[in-house]
Amino acid sequence: MAIRVGIAGIGFMGWIHWLAYQRVEGIEVVAIAEPDTKRRTGDWRDIRGNFGPPGKQVDLAGISVYSDITEMLEDKNIDLVDVCLPPAAHRGAVLAAAVAGKHVFCEKPIALRVSDAEEMVAACEQQKVQLMVGHVLPYFPEYRWALEKIWSGKYGSLLGGTFKRVISNPAWLPHFFDLDRVGGPLLDLHVHDAHLIRLLFGMPQAVNSRGRFNDKTLEYAHSQFEFSNNLVVSSVMGVVHQQGRPFTHGFEIHLERATLQFESAAFADAGEAMPIKLIDDQGNVLRPEQLANDVLDGFVAEISEVKKSLASGVNSPILSGELARDAVRICAAQALSAANRRQELI
Ligand SMILES: NC(=O)c1ccc[n+]([C@@H]2O[C@H](COP(=O)([O-])OP(=O)(O)OC[C@H]3O[C@@H](n4cnc5c(N)ncnc54)[C@H](O)[C@@H]3O)[C@@H](O)[C@H]2O)c1
Repeated sequence: MAIRVGIAGIGFMGWIHWLAYQRVEGIEVVAIAEPDTKRRTGDWRDIRGNFGPPGKQVDLAGISVYSDITEMLEDKNIDLVDVCLPPAAHRGAVLAAAVAGKHVFCEKPIALRVSDAEEMVAACEQQKVQLMVGHVLPYFPEYRWALEKIWSGKYGSLLGGTFKRVISNPAWLPHFFDLDRVGGPLLDLHVHDAHLIRLLFGMPQAVNSRGRFNDKTLEYAHSQFEFSNNLVVSSVMGVVHQQGRPFTHGFEIHLERATLQFESAAFADAGEAMPIKLIDDQGNVLRPEQLANDVLDGFVAEISEVKKSLASGVNSPILSGELARDAVRICAAQALSAANRRQELI
């Protein structure tokens, strides 16, 4: 029997997940919970995000429709609750889902506070339900290709890497810098790279960040992560105030016998990319023959991993709540380091 999913929150991510579920066999959406009356009728035409197709009129025949996640949690026909709510609502939703005995797939960031993330992981463990968090980056084609090369072992051990995620100030998102609602660029944006760094290199021993603040929120920062084994790992993240480059991300990753390189940016007039490549120690440059270019593919791969975890009973090593919690710990340490950076020299 297919795994039965209830999506909480039909906003941008609820829509993207809905589309991805349609493409994965063995897992299906049987319920939704959304306070917006129009969206409860299937009118999702006003949903817009910064990628993917715009919302549509959706046929909800056969789908149980609730106005709130609390009502949906009483539905005995749901195995997994997919939490696509704003970040500040993640803690309450995940704790309630765990008590109701439902497995949880929660969008990133797991929570806005380290203590909340710890509580959520502990609650799911105690209730013996799986907790997965939507850190989709490892499933994006270029990142996936890089991870496959790294984990193949063919190019030796990791030496380090640098990771970049910079956007134009998203002035259209009113609560973006609000630490109690969205969490600013660290928790909305950089948390993807914090998770990737944790996944690739383990937990850093310390972090050293220098950054600019927007009131109390770290707006832009360079960070150096310290590891006991001399890995050289750094990141650049945040917001710039020129509107012409809404999104940039990329990396350079060093292995003993290869370097992996990728960068992609959306500019106001066009997109540009430095396509993913692997430079080996024989003077060769290796490029993937063809990578998927449908933005939904990463989410389809992510949902397939959720299905695999639930079907096997073994929590995903990539999407696990523990890793997501550690990513929030890393972000919190970066904010703290940037705030307390003053070093007397004279
Ligand atoms: N992985 C990614 O690439 C990515 C991209 C964008 C957003 N996100 C994450 O997805 C999450 C949701 O973001 P979004 O952009 O979809 O937000 P959104 O505001 O578009 O959608 C949230 C929805 O939740 C609904 N909602 C609020 N309270 C509810 C409740 N109690 N019960 C049921 N529904 C409720 C709202 O009405 C809204 O429709 C955030 O954590 C965000 O960080 C991830």
